[in-house]
Amino acid sequence: MCGIIAYFGKKNAAPILIDGLKKLEYRGYDSAGVCLWDEDGIHSSKVKGRVSDLENLVSGLGSSNIGIAHTRWATHGEPNEINAHPHFDCKKEIAVVHNGIIENYSALKEILEKEGHIFVSKTDSEVLSHLIEKFYKNNLEDAVVRALRLVEGTFGIAVVCKKEKKIVVAKRGSPIVLGLGDKENIIASDAVAVLPYTKKVIYLNDNEMVVLTEGSYSVKNFKGQAVEKSIDEIKWTASEIEKKGYKHFMLKEIFEQPGAVENTLRGRIDKNHKIKLSVDIDLEPIKRIVIVACGTSWHSALIGKYLIEKIAGFPVEVDYASEFRYRNPIIGPSDLLLAISQSGETADVLAALKEAKNKGSKTLGIINVVGSTVAREVDSGIYLHAGPEIGVASTKAFSCQVTALLLLALFLAQQKGKKIEKGLFDEIYSLPSKIEEVLSQAGKIILLAKKFKDSEDFIYLGRGTNFPVALEGALKLKEISYIHAEGYPAGEMKHGPIALVDVKMPVVFIATKDETYAKILSNMEEVHARGGKIIAVANEVDSHINSLTKDIILVPKCREELMPIINTVPLQLLAYHIADLKGIDVDKPRNLAKSVTVE
Ligand code: AGP
Repeated sequence: MCGIIAYFGKKNAAPILIDGLKKLEYRGYDSAGVCLWDEDGIHSSKVKGRVSDLENLVSGLGSSNIGIAHTRWATHGEPNEINAHPHFDCKKEIAVVHNGIIENYSALKEILEKEGHIFVSKTDSEVLSHLIEKFYKNNLEDAVVRALRLVEGTFGIAVVCKKEKKIVVAKRGSPIVLGLGDKENIIASDAVAVLPYTKKVIYLNDNEMVVLTEGSYSVKNFKGQAVEKSIDEIKWTASEIEKKGYKHFMLKEIFEQPGAVENTLRGRIDKNHKIKLSVDIDLEPIKRIVIVACGTSWHSALIGKYLIEKIAGFPVEVDYASEFRYRNPIIGPSDLLLAISQSGETADVLAALKEAKNKGSKTLGIINVVGSTVAREVDSGIYLHAGPEIGVASTKAFSCQVTALLLLALFLAQQKGKKIEKGLFDEIYSLPSKIEEVLSQAGKIILLAKKFKDSEDFIYLGRGTNFPVALEGALKLKEISYIHAEGYPAGEMKHGPIALVDVKMPVVFIATKDETYAKILSNMEEVHARGGKIIAVANEVDSHINSLTKDIILVPKCREELMPIINTVPLQLLAYHIADLKGIDVDKPRNLAKSVTVE
């Protein structure tokens, strides 16, 4: 899951490519490279490390108004300068940047090596530049298409070659957006990189290619036939993808949650409390809902199961998307497959979606990125309108996903003629202000972060909808602070994990008031008895909790359906401040990337 960008215009390409890579760096940031084209040929620089390291080198490449560039998340071959992109043919006349995985690369490499091609890197992607070289007869498009016919796997590629003043771009499985500027065209893996230049975009579908030439572009399929494409308008503003004075995107996005949740609710509950959702699927034959997702989105799916079963009475199953397709799932026309994905580009979710569609299921998406592949693949969808989420650790998207799932549960209930209590709507409207109230606790949470930042392990515990909240809290801490953390149903503790508890173990309890409150207090007693250091997320400091810990984060009381949104925010802040105090680059944690476009 790398980021690629290409520019063909009037301006000096290098700074535009570098700036674009910086905006794509959340997709991968272990190495980067750029290649410029001019009448003398192709000129490139590659580095191990960040785009900022590449920036220092690029000025030596001379100026050109045509170029391609790449920021990497290694899949094959360790992060180093040789394995960084672009990759070349034997004569260094063809350069390729690639996002995706070539699954049959070793078989192709073997054939090409037998034909005399010399490989210099350990990557799968280098096979593309040699394949194109194999078929090159002074027509780059034709060589690219013939090369790609032999490729199994996923790709978003941009290609330049010494002999032709053009850029050839092709897509299958990895995202590609074409930005149409004024006398300039930009290709990128994500619209955020073209936004500074244009809002007019074309989203490529699988097995389509674009050829950029002087002041024009053409979209074709792999048969070489012209493809008519609609031009979309990006709704986000360039400033929305800036940090606005916050130290990290993640912190900005945590504090954007009241507004983001408001955007998810906007225009979806009418004055008679009728839920309005663009779910134009015949629900009559639907007997079961199957939700697929990954990571944080999977945690929201667990809460979605709880909400839809409780409010709408629809049986719901939740599956890790990466497991779904490989277990030959029993799914069919009476099932609704619900895909939840912030980026809308997660390969595992796409694969699960295709599996369900092949088995005749209707498909619905809860997606944040407008125009993303999942959004275009599903039969119908609900956009979060959370705005761009740049920080690798998902925060506001999670709160908006749970809000959208609550709206979907209410929508399905109303479709079944069920009456919804007025009180629930009043509380839904108070969500943004309740989140504000939690955010005002940030100071207290920083103190807790200082106290516990050197811990080696953490356990997070909750019951009911607070169990997925515990999972989410643990994931946030793991992915940005590199501290080992586990989330568990509190009732499960005594069946094993309690063996981990000692005086060094912080145990975070999500202990807000609901029917399981008494049970969670007994679980806290069990941990307290073994010296565990308790941090409690609670609605009030009652004498019982006070006797067990002084490390209490207060959150406003609310209905069970809304608790997961309120109770997750302090855990996001705790993880953020612990990671920040440890001096970690919170927005780009090691080994991770924002959208996982490979299986
Ligand atoms: C969450 O903080 C992570 N970035 C990751 O687990 C993420 O939730 C997962 O990769 C799913 O991404 P998606 O919602 O874009 O499909």
